Amino acid sequence: MVRTRPLKVALLGCGVVGSQVARLMTAHADDLAARIGARVELAGVAVRRPDRARGDIAPELVTTDAEGLVTRGDIDVVIELIGGIEPARTLINAAFESGASVVTANKALLAGDGTALHAAAEKQAADLYFEASVAGAIPLLRPLRESLAGDRVDRVLGIVNGTTNFILDRMESSGAGYGEALAEATALGYAEADPTADVEGFDAAAKAAILAGIAFHTRVRLDDVHREGITEITAADIAGARQMGHTVKLLAICERAGDGRSVTARVHPAMIPLSHPLAGVREAYNAVFVEAEAAGRLMFYGPGAGGVPTASAVLGDLVAACRNKLTGGLGPRESAYAQLPVSPMGEVVTRYHVSLDVVDKPGVLAQCAMVFAAHGVSIDTVRQSGKDGEAKLVVVTHRAHDAALGATVEALRRLDTVHGVASTMRVEGE
Ligand SMILES: NC(=O)c1ccc[n+]([C@@H]2O[C@H](COP(=O)([O-])OP(=O)(O)OC[C@H]3O[C@@H](n4cnc5c(N)ncnc54)[C@H](OP(=O)(O)O)[C@@H]3O)[C@@H](O)[C@H]2O)c1
Repeated sequence: MVRTRPLKVALLGCGVVGSQVARLMTAHADDLAARIGARVELAGVAVRRPDRARGDIAPELVTTDAEGLVTRGDIDVVIELIGGIEPARTLINAAFESGASVVTANKALLAGDGTALHAAAEKQAADLYFEASVAGAIPLLRPLRESLAGDRVDRVLGIVNGTTNFILDRMESSGAGYGEALAEATALGYAEADPTADVEGFDAAAKAAILAGIAFHTRVRLDDVHREGITEITAADIAGARQMGHTVKLLAICERAGDGRSVTARVHPAMIPLSHPLAGVREAYNAVFVEAEAAGRLMFYGPGAGGVPTASAVLGDLVAACRNKLTGGLGPRESAYAQLPVSPMGEVVTRYHVSLDVVDKPGVLAQCAMVFAAHGVSIDTVRQSGKDGEAKLVVVTHRAHDAALGATVEALRRLDTVHGVASTMRVEGE
């Protein structure tokens, strides 16, 4: 049954995602009404440049006064799709103060200020939904918050940035260097004019903070996430990975550590075996592996960005928030009761692939092996090749603390017989 008074929605931002949310709200208005139990009416659309063409949106709905729109008193749900920290944060808080629930895709804001936003929602008995903030269209946060609420999640491992996956995939498939692959990503619209947030891992780190917080019922801030980007990855690194049956991916990894008494969250490039399901994630797709005690291994895969796919996740949240408005119920709250400490990167246990340029003479391999042993790092495999007095030594270690692995590499650099450390990369997914 559809009730008489429509629910009023304020849309903040009408760009790549917002314009598609507005379009789909109109195109599917009858279905949404049937699913929610009330019609949903677009009450206003706040933008920065009001004179731009806005598709089928009635011009009288478009405003530059976002604050006036969210505080006018009759808005049921505010959809924030401006992005960035301000004015999004002020507007979301104003929405809660005015009694509205909020749907947002703003990972940067949630990773930095999630706790304060959740508290503001709690105070006003309002909903805060943010499915689209991680992995675009892929249903991931709701399964973690709701479907797995009775299980214990041990690990979340995933490709959560489409731009960097596209670049690494191109480097892998065509042998291109980083710069060439980035140029292609930019030309095809997969990378922004300033790609820093993507290629330096900031975007993935914000998503890792959100994922770790939900998975481990613990507050994980952006600063807690160790972050490395892909700008230093070379065609030689990709070829080296290929030689040992691996590929290179930018991974977000959140895990329980220290017998489950602490957690870690990190984003960095890593080699994974070609047989691993994440190795087959091509182009700009996203995929996330979740390992839970009872459920086992689950994989979520799909488009991690784009206006239309991301709008799907936003609309799913809109339906949930509207249903709660009608029934007087509330969606899941922030769950941070476990309050596990977040351990630094040095305590993460991982494996290294180290490629060294060394002098080609007897005893060098033994000398290097002693450096690994001195730091308590045991060697899994060694490959040596050389000619004309120069040699390459490629070592893959067993699992050890990241701090010990890092110290080993620094000590190797200081050996007279080591001309240089050509590359180091962590090895995951085995
Ligand atoms: N794009 C994706 O594929 C994707 C995927 C997942 C999540 N997200 C997230 O979704 C959010 C929106 O991303 P987007 O790509 O749609 O951004 P976008 O294309 O840059 O759109 C931003 C919109 O916000 C408006 N805006 C900017 N400053 C404003 C202000 N001060 N007051 C009112 N309106 C303002 C802009 O107005 P004008 O139109 O007048 O410039 C524009 O309509 C971000 O949090 C982003 O991280 C995006």
